[in-house]
Amino acid sequence: TIPVIAIDGPTASGKGTVAQRAAQALGFHYLDSGSLYRLVALVALNQEILLDDEPRLTAVAATLDVRFEGEHILLSGSDVAHAIRHERVGMAASKLSVLGGVRQALLQRQRDFCQLPGLVADGRDMGSVVFPDAGLKIFLTASAEIRAERRHKQLINKGNGANLTDVLRDIMDRDARDSSRAVAPLKHHSDSMLLDTSHLTIDDAVAFVVRAYRS
Ligand code: C5P
Repeated sequence: TIPVIAIDGPTASGKGTVAQRAAQALGFHYLDSGSLYRLVALVALNQEILLDDEPRLTAVAATLDVRFEGEHILLSGSDVAHAIRHERVGMAASKLSVLGGVRQALLQRQRDFCQLPGLVADGRDMGSVVFPDAGLKIFLTASAEIRAERRHKQLINKGNGANLTDVLRDIMDRDARDSSRAVAPLKHHSDSMLLDTSHLTIDDAVAFVVRAYRS
């Protein structure tokens, strides 16, 4: 069987960076499952599809023409790697990700990333739904305040003005929605290891994941 490390956790927890670096360290493939929800959101915003229109959004998810090539994410041929990172795309992704049809339509696409020599998958339901048999499951989190500070710094560095209070409010909204939805809610399941990065560096967190996998 192909080894899978499932890393789930809330927004801005650093799980993307940690998962990507752990994949690099182990020579594994990497799945950023949030990017798939963001891609559906980007199409929805561009085509003015309502974020609760389940049949249309399910069709979008089922027919996404996407290729992941290193840093590039090609959606019908054009690179949208930056476009999908905008806050409003993340917020839209969080809204449409409550739809069971959309989640179902993205399931196989996510499982297709599971290839030798192994996979590190990052998201909200990697351990619970997409890769329930993963050999290692980690719930990676940090306090909402610390996540807000990290996201705020990122936004400032990118030259986007942002107010810490607004960032914290958005993060808490997103947490509430991701963890209260009926389908695949975000939560720390008992079969996953808890990794709280509030007071850890990225290197520490990566080392934790690699060590947990090897032991
Ligand atoms: O992780 P990221 O912030 O890129 O994800 C964007 C949104 O997509 C999340 O707020 C969440 O609602 C949704 N998502 C999900 N399941 C996943 C990954 C992301 O519902 N496995």
